[in-house]
Amino acid sequence: MSVILGIETSCDECSASVLLHEKDEFRPLSVSTFSQIELHQPYGGVVPEVASRNHLEQIEPVIWDALTKAKLDVEDIDAISVTNRPGLIGALLVGVTAAKALAYAKQKPLVPVHHLEGHLMSAFLKSPTLGNAPIEFPAVFLMVSGGHTNLHYIEKAPLFWAPTMLKDTLMGRSIDDAAGEAFDKTAKILGFPYPGGKWLDENAVGGDPHAFDLPRGLKQRDSFDFSFSGLKTAVMLLTKRLQMEKVIESAMPDLCASIQEAIIDPLIRKALLLSKSKMAKSIVVVGGVAANSRLRARLKEESPVPVIYPDLRYCTDNAAMIAAAGAVRYAQGAGLNKNDFLKLNAFAIAES
Ligand code: KG4
Ligand code: ZN
Repeated sequence: MSVILGIETSCDECSASVLLHEKDEFRPLSVSTFSQIELHQPYGGVVPEVASRNHLEQIEPVIWDALTKAKLDVEDIDAISVTNRPGLIGALLVGVTAAKALAYAKQKPLVPVHHLEGHLMSAFLKSPTLGNAPIEFPAVFLMVSGGHTNLHYIEKAPLFWAPTMLKDTLMGRSIDDAAGEAFDKTAKILGFPYPGGKWLDENAVGGDPHAFDLPRGLKQRDSFDFSFSGLKTAVMLLTKRLQMEKVIESAMPDLCASIQEAIIDPLIRKALLLSKSKMAKSIVVVGGVAANSRLRARLKEESPVPVIYPDLRYCTDNAAMIAAAGAVRYAQGAGLNKNDFLKLNAFAIAES
C-alpha cells in the first residue's frame, strides 16, 4: 500500500491529488484543481505565458487543499509524482519545481510522470459514482483530448507496463490537430466560446449528422492515424455560405451535428477496426472528448465489446491520474531519490 501526492500543471489546469494505491486499486482520496479556462477564454485558446504565471500563484494553495481534503499531512505521503512531459514548458516547470522543492524538504522519493500515461491511468481510478467495471485485457485505448489523439493497443494491466509502453503500444495518432482541438477550432468559427467541444455537443442535439458532407481525413483502412486539419477550411467555407444565404441560425443544429460527426466518425471507425483486428476484449476512451454524447451513443450501439470511460471528472486534466501513473512507477521502483531528482527537468515534447 502507498499514498501518492500527484501534481499536474502541463497545460491550463493546476491540480494536486492524494491517492491511495493498493494492489489493483487506485483510490483518489482528494483532488484539488484550479481550472484556468476563464482566464484564457478572452483569447480563444490557451496563452502559455498566462498559464505559467497563474500556475505559480495556484500551485501552493492547490497542493495544501489536496492534503487538507485527504486529511493527511505531507509526512504521511510515501512519494510525490509530477507531470514532467509533454506540455507547455513554462507551465510544466512550475509543477516540477514545486514537486522537487517539496520532495527535497520532506525527503520523499519523486516520480516523474508522462502526461499521456496519466490519461491512460484515468480509466483505473476508483469512482464512487461509476462502480468501475474491470478493464479486460487486451484492450484498445482511444485517447482523445485537447492536445492528443492516440490509439493504443494494450495487452497488460498497469503494474506490468514497461517504461517504453506509450511508444510500444501506439498504433495510430493524429498527424495534425487533436480531436479536441478540432472541436475547439471549428466551434470558434461558429462563434462559440473556448473550449468549444461541449458547445458543439449541446448545439448538435436534434441536428442531422449527415446534413452536410464534411471531409474525413486519412480514410485508408490500413492506417490507424487521424487527420483533422482539412476540416477547419471546409467548416469556414460552409459557414460563410450559410451566413450569405441567411440560414445560419436555422442550420445551426445540422451544422454542429455534421461537424461533430466528421470528428468522431474516424475515431469510432478506427477504434472498432483495431479492436476487431486484435480481438480486444474492451475499448477504453480517455481524455476530454470522452465526454462527447454522440461518441458515447455510437460506441454503445456499434461496439461488440464493452466500452469503458473514466468518471467525467477524470476525463479532463487532473492530478489523480498523475498520482495513479506515479503509483504504478513507484511500485515498480522508479522513485528518484534526492541525488537524482534534483537533476529532474521538464520537456515540452513527448520524448527526448
Ligand atoms: O483532456 P483535456 O482536458 O485536454 C488536454 O489534456 O489536452 O480535454 C479538453 C478537450 C477540449 O478540446 C474540449 O473541447 C473537449 O475536451 N471536450 C469535448 C467535450 N467536452 C470537452 N469535446 C467534445 N464533446 C464534449 N462534450
Ligand atoms: Zn491532458
